[in-house]
Amino acid sequence: MNSILVIGAQWGDEGKGKISNYFSGKADIVVRYQGGNNAGHSVAFDGKTFHLQTIPSGIFNSKTLNILGNGMVINPLALYDEMQKLKEAGFDCKNIAISTRAHLDLEYHLELDGLEEVALKEKKIGTTKKGIGPCYKDKVSRSGLRMCDFIRDDFDKKYAENLKIKNSEIVALGGKPIDLEESLKKYHKAKELIKPLVKDTITILSKAKEENKKIVFEGAQGTMLDIDFGTYPYVTSSNTTSGGAISGSGIGLGSIDGICAIVKAYTTRVGEGPFVTEQNNEIGNCIREKAHEYGVVTHRPRRIGWLDLVQLTYSRNVNGFKHVALMLLDILGGLKEIKVCVGYKLDGKEIDYYPADLDELKRVEPIYKSFKSWNEDISNCKAFGELPEACKTYVKFIEDFLKIKINIVSVGPSREQTIICEEIF
Ligand code: IMO
Ligand code: MG
Repeated sequence: MNSILVIGAQWGDEGKGKISNYFSGKADIVVRYQGGNNAGHSVAFDGKTFHLQTIPSGIFNSKTLNILGNGMVINPLALYDEMQKLKEAGFDCKNIAISTRAHLDLEYHLELDGLEEVALKEKKIGTTKKGIGPCYKDKVSRSGLRMCDFIRDDFDKKYAENLKIKNSEIVALGGKPIDLEESLKKYHKAKELIKPLVKDTITILSKAKEENKKIVFEGAQGTMLDIDFGTYPYVTSSNTTSGGAISGSGIGLGSIDGICAIVKAYTTRVGEGPFVTEQNNEIGNCIREKAHEYGVVTHRPRRIGWLDLVQLTYSRNVNGFKHVALMLLDILGGLKEIKVCVGYKLDGKEIDYYPADLDELKRVEPIYKSFKSWNEDISNCKAFGELPEACKTYVKFIEDFLKIKINIVSVGPSREQTIICEEIF
């Protein structure tokens, strides 16, 4: 296939960065199409780990163009910092194209994100406080500023007009108004670096498509954080599911050849919201420490739970994925037992849907199937056949349940610790 979409099938942090980076080795273009620097994508190679938030995972290959698509919300100051860090590490960052249509995630959005969370008190979402919600809110209410505004000479004027309104909102919520001059100084510095990279990415993508170039679409967050399909309101503010790749890049329906879902071998979640298979106990703590399950962006401890096949079936249905990369399988070794959720009971009766109503979802009882773990270290296995029997049984059960072949099994963070069962891209 010539184009592949990589999406998170759970609540984010599934390992999208590792797999996008793996595919990007064979790609001409990598595209981020939604979200912003709320994402934290880790890529490990040559004994080093890089954390990307706004920039796509193809940045380490100078021949790969990295597109920041129209569906993204981009904080120019954070992008500036991320580019500087990468430059210091030896990556020149010339291989980036930023959509003229991408929205600007600005200082007042960040401030409002924090203040709104405080105002919500115990109903807070647990956002990353990167301004994502307030920025998408402005996009939808048609008052946002975009990259095409950022590169114009009259950006300062437009920013000043918006800041006036936003500062009154900030003050009303008990915050300190943002100083216009201070703010603009920072934007001017960032603009110097960013302006040459702002392009019409729709044209770039359509030409690439005509020339049969290989393209990776790199999703951020995960299906259960989708604004439509996730556990609303405990979600992010974009479409993290497969449809988001179309509206967020301008590639056109039917132009993506395959979808690879990134699935963690267990489940994690950061922030508030229901979590049916959560293990807020010793098992959860043990997995968290072994896998170092702490947020890349906010450093918060991630909540841990068993794999939930009801949730993954829902995820398969809304995304239409036909490929799976199973991540962090090595973490489940050495446990007393491994549990997998195979059904939901609501008020004593089994249900065949993923509840939209959070009151229902909170009352759901998981039906578990138990599996044996293994004691062997699998982190150096190079082929599926080398895995212990108990491990193979676990993987095969997931495949049979989802009726989807698992094409990639990850047994460690580095590029080499990847079992390719079948090349798909
Ligand atoms: P990657 O791409 C995990 C979560 C936040 C919060 C909710 C809304 O690394 O998988 P937001 O700041 O987006 O308004 O927060 O979404 N969240 C993530 N959780 N991985 C992410 O990204 C996330 N991005 C946002 O914790 O619950
Ligand atoms: Mg992350």
